[in-house]
Amino acid sequence: MNKSILSICLVVLALYIDSSISKDAGQETVSKHGKLSVKGANIVNQNGEIVQLKGMCLYWSIWKPQYWNEETVQGIHDSCHSNVIRASMGVETNDGGYLTDPDGQMKLVETVIEAAIKHDLYIIVDWHEEKADTHQAQAVDFFDKISKKYGSYPNLMYETFNEPTTQSWSSVLKPYHEAVIKAIRANDPDNIIICGTGQWSQRVDEAADDPITGYSNIMYTLHFYAGTHKQWLRDLTQGAIDKGLPIFVTEYGTDNVDVVNWVDPEESQLWWDFCDKNNLSYTNWAICDVAEASAALIADTPTNKVCQQDYLTESGLLVVAQNKK
Ligand SMILES: *[C@@H]1O[C@H](CO)[C@@H](O)[C@H](O)[C@H]1NC(C)=O
Repeated sequence: MNKSILSICLVVLALYIDSSISKDAGQETVSKHGKLSVKGANIVNQNGEIVQLKGMCLYWSIWKPQYWNEETVQGIHDSCHSNVIRASMGVETNDGGYLTDPDGQMKLVETVIEAAIKHDLYIIVDWHEEKADTHQAQAVDFFDKISKKYGSYPNLMYETFNEPTTQSWSSVLKPYHEAVIKAIRANDPDNIIICGTGQWSQRVDEAADDPITGYSNIMYTLHFYAGTHKQWLRDLTQGAIDKGLPIFVTEYGTDNVDVVNWVDPEESQLWWDFCDKNNLSYTNWAICDVAEASAALIADTPTNKVCQQDYLTESGLLVVAQNKK
């Protein structure tokens, strides 16, 4: 074999090896995996191969709208090595939200969706509140509009209810999700829909005992803050996975949720190992520069520096390293 044929063979071999699934989420984007669906407890790509999404949550739209723009989305892909972004749209707070300013909030969400499509990321549109069951009509109307406008893009995923609290799964949460799912499915037959579970999205066991039926590509939410929610929540989650429940960690922090909050690298790693072993996808809370241990950015990070090394906090550095593993 002459040298040029050999080198062509090597290039072909390298390309072949390269087409396997990398651990760096930033390389595993929409243009490579296409339309996602749920198979058993896993997310699979357009070829039926298991994929794991890893990425970042935007902070509450009402308090950090300055990061709801294209530059930030690009930074999350390029420098935070993410293939998914979560748009956490505030619905009802003392400072406003979608219920009082639907046009302003919709504009932020649309800006971020369009940036995610342009920069090849999956995007979770999140109805970010704790009492969504009392605003079901507004949620149905919101998701009807979003799915009508963007449901044909493989990038889109819907999260119907961020964090329920004490509501009953079977008599309140499940019927709420079914109403929103019905509205979405009228416009978008198959993109993934993720449903919030009880007790700040920890009671995946309740969903596993009484899952939503009659629709495909439905997942359930798990949230954790590593320094607070430990082995007991991993055990509870494992029980739900063993029953076949498809779970997406749409929000997690590396920190403790107490008043004095700090990063807990050991517990964070236990959680990441647990998620990776089970192919669970996860999005970190959050892209913002507030004085909270879970914030990924240092104070006053400009949007064109989002996720760049010098602008990451202790938590941000850990999360970005994990997104590449
Ligand atoms: C996770 O995905 C890999 C393939 O990427 C597969 O071999 C493994 O069985 C999956 N694990 C679980 C728990 O589904």
